[in-house]
Amino acid sequence: MTNKAELYQDVRKQIASVIAGETSITARYATASCILRDAFGERFYWTGFYLVDPLKPTELVVGPYQGTLGCLRIPFGRGVCGAAAQSGETQLVEDVHAFPGHIACDSATNSEIVVPVRDGAGKIAAVLDIDSTQASAFDTIDQTGLEAICADLLTV
Ligand code: SME
Repeated sequence: MTNKAELYQDVRKQIASVIAGETSITARYATASCILRDAFGERFYWTGFYLVDPLKPTELVVGPYQGTLGCLRIPFGRGVCGAAAQSGETQLVEDVHAFPGHIACDSATNSEIVVPVRDGAGKIAAVLDIDSTQASAFDTIDQTGLEAICADLLTV
C-alpha cells in the first residue's frame, strides 16, 4: 500500500509531466486541481487556486477549482487564503472556526491548507487552497507534498 508521502511524489510527477512546457497558466492550474482532487478524493472537499489579480495586486480572484461554489474575490490579509498571500507562508489550519477572519464560502469546511504559488522570479502569483469537511485533515506530510507541487507549477 502506498503511503501518503509516496502518493504525493507520484502526484507531483504526474502533474509535472502533464503541464511541462504548457504556455497556458489556466491549463496548468486546472490540471493540478483535477489531479490532486482525483488522487486524494473526498478529503479534498474543495481544491483549487486563487490568483493574484493583475488589475488589483492586493486581491485574489478565484481560478480553476474542483468543488462547491467558491467566493470570487479575497483581499490580501483576509481569511486563510489572504493570510497565505500576504505572508508568503503556507497556512495549515486544523480548525477554521478558530482562525481569525476565516471566510466561510462553504460552511461544510472544518480544516484547510493554503500554499503560496510563486512564479519563476519568486513573486507570489496564486495560492493553492484545499479545504476539508474533516477536522484536522492536513499534516506536515500534506504541507511538504503540496509545497513541492506548487514549486513546480509555474516553472516546469
Ligand atoms: N477557505 C478560504 C476561502 C475560500 S473557500 O472556502 C473556497 C479562506 O478562508 O481563505
